[in-house]
Amino acid sequence: MISIKTQRELDVMRQACKITAAARALAGKMVRPGVTTGQIDKAVHDFIVSQGAKPSFLHYQGYPASACISVNEVIIHGIPGNRELKEGDIVSVDVGAYYKGFHGDCAATFACGRISDEAQRLIDVTKQSFFEGIKFARQGNRVSDISHAVQTYVEANGFSVVRAFVGHGVGEHLHEEPSVPNYGAPGKGPRLVKNMTIAVEPMVNMGTYDVRVLKDGWTTVTADGKLAAHYENSILITDGEPEILTVSEEL
Ligand code: MF3
Ligand code: CO
Repeated sequence: MISIKTQRELDVMRQACKITAAARALAGKMVRPGVTTGQIDKAVHDFIVSQGAKPSFLHYQGYPASACISVNEVIIHGIPGNRELKEGDIVSVDVGAYYKGFHGDCAATFACGRISDEAQRLIDVTKQSFFEGIKFARQGNRVSDISHAVQTYVEANGFSVVRAFVGHGVGEHLHEEPSVPNYGAPGKGPRLVKNMTIAVEPMVNMGTYDVRVLKDGWTTVTADGKLAAHYENSILITDGEPEILTVSEEL
């Protein structure tokens, strides 16, 4: 069942998503050489709690932290810890906040100091692929119209889209229907309806789209060890342009 939100629910979603986006921005500002991923996670945790919200990911299916922090060849679900960031790393931060019964979910990849031109291009293409995708995120279209646009843009730029993980509905639950893949033919999947809220989240690899999950059961890396980037916002479907819910002053 795909949930359609009421105006009251959307008002709460906007607040949850604003907190989530601010947490992402805060994390992004902390990315620099010498900082540990655990320090960023703690700051995200404390900020979310200070806003009267709860970190959505903490203890979700046993996940042990508030943020996912995924460095270089780690695509998603990197577990924060003692790892020190170093110059040239690319750092994906994924955060969720649960506020008054609703979740926000968003992610972005940040540069640690000076990074290579190719790594910067990966980050830029990944972010832009989100915006290419959501051009099709409006009432009457189908889910895979978004998917197809993301894939087309990414592949035209010489990168690949991850298949093994997908975007999703978001709201009372962190993961709701429908699934929102970042690949596939257009015109498939459920029809988009006004007041649906979905998380669109391209995960883009520099090389092969194949992934491997490490023994910790979470850390998801590129099968070929090449770099990956991630960009995600929770959005609201309308009969016109979608509303990006995970917005903050900074992003
Ligand atoms: N943002 C991720 C997603 O959209 C959630 C991380 S999974 C968790 O699926 F377990 F870490 F919460
Ligand atoms: Co998500």
